[in-house]
Amino acid sequence: MDQMHDDGFRIEPVATTADDVARRHDANRAAWNEGAIAYHAELDAAREFIAAGRSNLHPVERRNLERHGPLASWCRRAIHLQCAGGRDTLSLRNEGAHEVIGVDISDRMIDAARELSRLTGVDATWYCCDVLNTPGELDGSADLVYTGRGALCWIQDIAGWASVVARLLKPGGVVSVYDGHPIQWLLRDDTPTLEFGAGASYFSYAVSDKGWPEEYIGRIDGIDAGDESRKYERNWTVAEVVQALIDAGLCVEILGEHPEDFWDALPHLSPAERERIPNTFSVCARKPLR
Ligand SMILES: C[S@@+](CC[C@H](N)C(=O)[O-])C[C@H]1O[C@@H](n2cnc3c(N)ncnc32)[C@H](O)[C@@H]1O
Repeated sequence: MDQMHDDGFRIEPVATTADDVARRHDANRAAWNEGAIAYHAELDAAREFIAAGRSNLHPVERRNLERHGPLASWCRRAIHLQCAGGRDTLSLRNEGAHEVIGVDISDRMIDAARELSRLTGVDATWYCCDVLNTPGELDGSADLVYTGRGALCWIQDIAGWASVVARLLKPGGVVSVYDGHPIQWLLRDDTPTLEFGAGASYFSYAVSDKGWPEEYIGRIDGIDAGDESRKYERNWTVAEVVQALIDAGLCVEILGEHPEDFWDALPHLSPAERERIPNTFSVCARKPLR
């Protein structure tokens, strides 16, 4: 995916050591600090949206969460992993979560999230850290761990991620993931029909590149094309994500593959072609009471 917007695209060996993982996450922090400019630019719109009591949750996410009842009835604390500029975190508050906490590796994203809280007066607590280093003081405290919409591909260690999710949840708490389907990674993003990208693989597939798709962040003022920080992504299969949650001790309650998308990942694909594949997947899993 995204091969076409950048000459710096590379297929990478998968990260196998803790050092590889930390190095790639650190590189991603730098890249997201650059990308955060787009989130700062949208602060006014985000302020209006949140202050009006609206929610950015995707219908698939809302459907999954409401299977557990209205958020206000069961969610005292929601922790949003990879919260970016905080719009989705504060949406969870507008949806009924009594307290929300956002975690993100990019200090510029967390700055935007703090500013959004300040501008809207909607309370939240923000932590700037790698998801894998989410502070232990939050352990066992979340009724809901919420993540997705472009999150898991940045994590180079899915077992480590799942063990953080499990330790943050209260017994009986639920994790909700809604993210891009890994099949999208196999496909070219510049063709109207479904075509495999050169060298793409469903399994053990990691890539790096520079710059951002036009449909998302686009060019960044003050940085020439090709001078952006290199960022590293990993395509986790649906089975790898689900198995990581199971191995961390959680019980899977919802698993879905969906034609809907949350952004225009394959912008040139015709609607008829788009409907032939799952564009996203979702999983909800619960921490057992004991
Ligand atoms: C596509 S955005 C999250 C999507 C979110 N739904 C939004 O508002 O757009 C990905 C976020 O993950 C964060 N991130 C990437 N790697 C991370 C890591 N290892 N730990 C914590 N946050 C990370 C980035 O800083 C970025 O804010």
